[in-house]
Amino acid sequence: MATSVNGFSKLTKQEKIAWLASHHFKNKETGIEILKQYWNSDIKLQRLHDEFIENTISNFYLPLGIAPNFLINGKYRTIPMAIEESSVVAAAGNAAKFWQKRGGFKAEVLGTEKVGQVHFIYAGDVDKLREFFSQVQPKLFDATFELTENMRKRNGGITAITLRDKTEDLQHYYQLHCTFETRDAMGANFINSCLETIAKAFEFELKSSDLFTPREKDIQIVMSILSNYVPNCKVRASVSCKIEELRTDKNMDPLDFAHKFVRAVEIANIEPHRAVTHNKGIMNGIDAVVLATGNDFRAIEAGAHAYAAKDGRYRSLSQASIVDDVFTFSLEIPLALGTVGGLTSLHPLVKLSLEILEHPSAEELMEIVATAGLAQNFAALRSLTTEGIQKGHMKMHLLNILNHLGATPKQKAYFTSHFKNKTISHKEVIAEFNALKEKDDAQVPK
Ligand code: MEV
Repeated sequence: MATSVNGFSKLTKQEKIAWLASHHFKNKETGIEILKQYWNSDIKLQRLHDEFIENTISNFYLPLGIAPNFLINGKYRTIPMAIEESSVVAAAGNAAKFWQKRGGFKAEVLGTEKVGQVHFIYAGDVDKLREFFSQVQPKLFDATFELTENMRKRNGGITAITLRDKTEDLQHYYQLHCTFETRDAMGANFINSCLETIAKAFEFELKSSDLFTPREKDIQIVMSILSNYVPNCKVRASVSCKIEELRTDKNMDPLDFAHKFVRAVEIANIEPHRAVTHNKGIMNGIDAVVLATGNDFRAIEAGAHAYAAKDGRYRSLSQASIVDDVFTFSLEIPLALGTVGGLTSLHPLVKLSLEILEHPSAEELMEIVATAGLAQNFAALRSLTTEGIQKGHMKMHLLNILNHLGATPKQKAYFTSHFKNKTISHKEVIAEFNALKEKDDAQVPK
């Protein structure tokens, strides 16, 4: 049973596991055995993983899959994807193959500006604050001179510091709104260090200034932190072809398909319930590559959904159109990604994923990730507007059901062939499995 515990983080790994087992596992030995099964036999590698976070007790696997044949801006990419959902990698592979024959994907970075803010409370005269800010602004850049030295050498650094008056929304609330270029780094630590330095310098200068009364000098720096909302760190991915080229063996007239597809995107654009699921499909592709390349998928998720709601209503992140006889499908999404720093040089599988991607720059990674999102969205909408999503989804999910039933490799092969051209349902698989069990031993694949 759960109970409170003091000094847990100071216990050894074995002690933590023993505590966990005695308070939370019905069968202690089995629980401990499961945790240990996932330990790596390479002690150094295990220690590396242990030290990523606090209180590590084991590793939590996700499959790392590969989606080849992505033609992006005329160059082939093999995309690594870390994800648990059965159909995502298969769908990415299908979409890549489909567009490979129709000119491939185009992707373009529209901006790389990152954002951070110092949030503070000032109850004095606003004109004085404005005057003071214009005087002190160069000193704020100077204060971060050492911190930004390496980044400036790479043409990055702080690009602007502005004062924002937010008092209409919250009494006495102002910001130092700062923008950054962080080149190939995601830059979270760099940005936060700069912001904390700026905040200190700002407070010091204000308190030393003759402009303010003692009461006005009593400002409060509430916090200094980067923003994961980066609408100017954005990428566009698109595909386009003549309507006739959309003809496939799926038995639907290409013009009817194109119109139905565009309608599906229009629905996601005006209907939030659908938009959330539509965008979730996009994030299936995005998160999988973000995770495989050691980037922060929570930051990407938060920023993407805020962007989807930028005009006050939650909308589709992708757009589709038919102009004359040309079908175009595109996605614009903010993606603050890095290919250096953070996990990228630490996690062996992240390093390998970046090698598979041929060591992309952050901007190239933005293009690849956006393409994976668009491909995923295309695959989902193509299924949804034609044969429905379940046929493909359940085909991929079949192995999960069979594993749940404890099927042998031979039984799995039998079931894969048995359900080849059928839409699979959970119930039917179980019925067929039980029926097989009742047959003669000779007939049952083992
Ligand atoms: C499932 O993970 C994603 C979809 O629901 C996306 C969509 O509906 O567009 C298939």
